[in-house]
Amino acid sequence: MDVKVSIFGFGNVGRATARVLLKKAGFIQRRYGLEFKVVSITDRSGTLWMPEGIDLREALTVKESLGRISAWTNDYELYDMGPKEAVRDVGADIVVDVTNEVNAHEWHLLALREGKAVVTSNKPPLAFHYGKLTKEAERRGLPYLFEATVMAGTPIITLLRDGLLGDSVERIEAVLNATTTFILSEMERGATFEAALKRAQKLGIAERDPRGDILGIDAGYKATILHCIAFEPMTFDNAEVSGIVEVTEGKIKRAGKSGKTVRLVATVEKGTVTVEPREVPLGSPLAVESHENAAVIKTDLLGELVIKGAGAGLKETASGVVSDVVKASLSLSG
Ligand code: HSE
Repeated sequence: MDVKVSIFGFGNVGRATARVLLKKAGFIQRRYGLEFKVVSITDRSGTLWMPEGIDLREALTVKESLGRISAWTNDYELYDMGPKEAVRDVGADIVVDVTNEVNAHEWHLLALREGKAVVTSNKPPLAFHYGKLTKEAERRGLPYLFEATVMAGTPIITLLRDGLLGDSVERIEAVLNATTTFILSEMERGATFEAALKRAQKLGIAERDPRGDILGIDAGYKATILHCIAFEPMTFDNAEVSGIVEVTEGKIKRAGKSGKTVRLVATVEKGTVTVEPREVPLGSPLAVESHENAAVIKTDLLGELVIKGAGAGLKETASGVVSDVVKASLSLSG
């Protein structure tokens, strides 16, 4: 089955997604009988639209060497369209949002109203409009999937949405931001905050504006999304969030001396989401390293369940996006 895909955002995550689509095309065809045709790519410079399918290798070369998709050589395939127009006008089965656009919920809703499935790694639409978006998708019987918003491709969202259907979640405690873990673990090894942050940016872990990571906002968005799935819709405005700005080298050393490590921990319980730096014992599942994330989910039937894995990184985030694109395609074809 041919599946037409529109990609919005061709930054690090968008390009990593395109690379995985290229690399895994044969695998996906053999395993699921799906062939993806990327019919449009929209970045800040405009939209490249080719109903017969874009050569992703060429698109990657253009973007990586010239910095914008509108540097494409054939002018007649380029359109001066932003996401809203492209969502409306391009004939696609699945809209993939890999931007950081805060107001993207507007065109997610538009896509659903146009009968298109939505896959996204973009957190603010979910952290502020979860109820509205998922209701619209349900009403229309369309997939609205967002695995890569929390823990990259590590499937905590699938676990909470599609597993544990007879369990009631009581609490989730989780380390959900890789940049802060990376900075804190580098500081444990003697690096300064600034040097550690620079490395996190170089590795593509930190957000373009790393203040969102350091102030706990990114972890707060993710914890809010988990709350919406595990309990009921709420918005980030009701989360209590503090970051790692006040975690000094002295605090880190003192924690180390008592067999502990400082991590930015999110606690999610019905009606409350808090994010704060906490000392966790070295043997605890939350004592993650480098770009790992971990969550301890406590339910009434199962007790404590731990899920741990990559929480950031380019191919790791693309893993979640591509998995959702496959899932959405299978659901549209079924
Ligand atoms: N900046 C994010 C993090 C990337 O550090 O976890 C993944 O959402």
